[in-house]
Amino acid sequence: MKILFVGAEALPFASTGGLADVLGSLPAALKRAKGDDLDIRVVLPLYQSVNEKYRKDMKLEAEFQVQLAWRSQYCGIYSYDLQGVTYYFIDNEYYFSRGTLYGNFDDAERFAFFCAAVMEMMPKLDFYPDVLHAHDWQSALTVIYLRTKYSWIAEYQKMRCVYTIHNIDYQGIYDFDILGDVFALSDLERPIVEYNGKINLTKGAIVCCDRLTTVSQRYAEEIQTDYFASGLQYILRMYSGKVMGIVNGIDVDYYNPATDPALLETYTPRTVEKGKAKNKAELQRVFGLPESPNTPIVAMVSRLASHKGFDLVKYAMEGLLSRDVQFVLLGTGEAELESFFENLQKRYPEKVSIMLAYNKDLSKQIYAGADIFLMPSKSEPCGLAQMIASRYGTVPVVHEVGGLFDTIHPFNPETKEGNGVTFYGYDAMDMLDAVIRTIDIYNDHDLWKVLRSNAMKMDFSWASSAGKYLDMYEGL
Ligand code: GLC
Repeated sequence: MKILFVGAEALPFASTGGLADVLGSLPAALKRAKGDDLDIRVVLPLYQSVNEKYRKDMKLEAEFQVQLAWRSQYCGIYSYDLQGVTYYFIDNEYYFSRGTLYGNFDDAERFAFFCAAVMEMMPKLDFYPDVLHAHDWQSALTVIYLRTKYSWIAEYQKMRCVYTIHNIDYQGIYDFDILGDVFALSDLERPIVEYNGKINLTKGAIVCCDRLTTVSQRYAEEIQTDYFASGLQYILRMYSGKVMGIVNGIDVDYYNPATDPALLETYTPRTVEKGKAKNKAELQRVFGLPESPNTPIVAMVSRLASHKGFDLVKYAMEGLLSRDVQFVLLGTGEAELESFFENLQKRYPEKVSIMLAYNKDLSKQIYAGADIFLMPSKSEPCGLAQMIASRYGTVPVVHEVGGLFDTIHPFNPETKEGNGVTFYGYDAMDMLDAVIRTIDIYNDHDLWKVLRSNAMKMDFSWASSAGKYLDMYEGL
């Protein structure tokens, strides 16, 4: 079976969030599960930020011109093999030699070019996958092109396609004046992408794909409701027969406290007591907080966006800080939130420490050194941080939503089951109550050991989800 993943980012090459984790680990997991019977390849843009250490070993596979409406643009295809997976890179410096991955005025054109290049790459490499698997709006046009511009060509007709929504808040919405000029679609194709009077690329992919997946079971249900769908509920209900949820896994080798080179001291479930104590002291040093071994550290590693639950955190912070607790935060984002936390840090220098950055190694030091991991997202398609925290023995406190609901099960002190603490209502006081309940368990050392060990024992590897993807591909 031949599969081609299409997406805008993949670790270790380019990353701004969870999508990169998935595209960097699911293909290898599929390969492990299926072995030689599976030929899996991934394609993404060759951004300026892709490190020289990968570039120098890339192989030039093809060079050709891509036609996008009236433009004719150069396209180079480079390849790099990693863990049995071939990664292809679409090279065009005009589009991808920019300081950032997204946020340019011409993102629509950049990713339209990317999608057109992916479609044109197939005959050049003589690689026609059995399943084209596109991820998020930046690659939605491949699914749309497959069923429109390319639908008369035999090789493309045989192809099945899957579209995965990693976050429904980002849909690729544009005005109709660029339908032909940028997306190279004709008026006949207009109804496919039209939604609420605009071009909506996600909607187009929902219509055109054979299967629509999202990254947790719960989120698959949620996106068919008005509250969570960001406006797409009608179309998702219409096509609900296509929709399924498969929960993400994490790369358990990359996120492994027993071997992680980013940690001061590695540890296993057996040595967790000592290991976490050392990492905690180091974390307190790095973040400039008093080295107090018995003060619980509540941590957040997150994009600073209100939908990540910060509108609750803002209200609950004073209540939380009235306790013996330390709070550390790593992330960047909305200016208003950044200044809120800067201000909080000034007022509580002994208790609050923040770093406004996106830093993989530092995030791992937090997963290892903190005690409690707070993730109160308003909506969360899957979420990876709660699984990573759990694996590092940092107890997650989460809002019961999306993938958080699917992966974190509330601890019951009677039965001793559960790997975290959860709250139901999206409410600051409910959240604060959950954190305080967790601190109470923390202060009961025997109970805490049980909860922490439950958390560490969870299997968040890709193994079972990889099987579900393979079943779906086979079915198609
Ligand atoms: C997006 C979602 C996140 C998910 C990730 C990978 O970043 O917001 O919940 O875990 O994609 O699927």
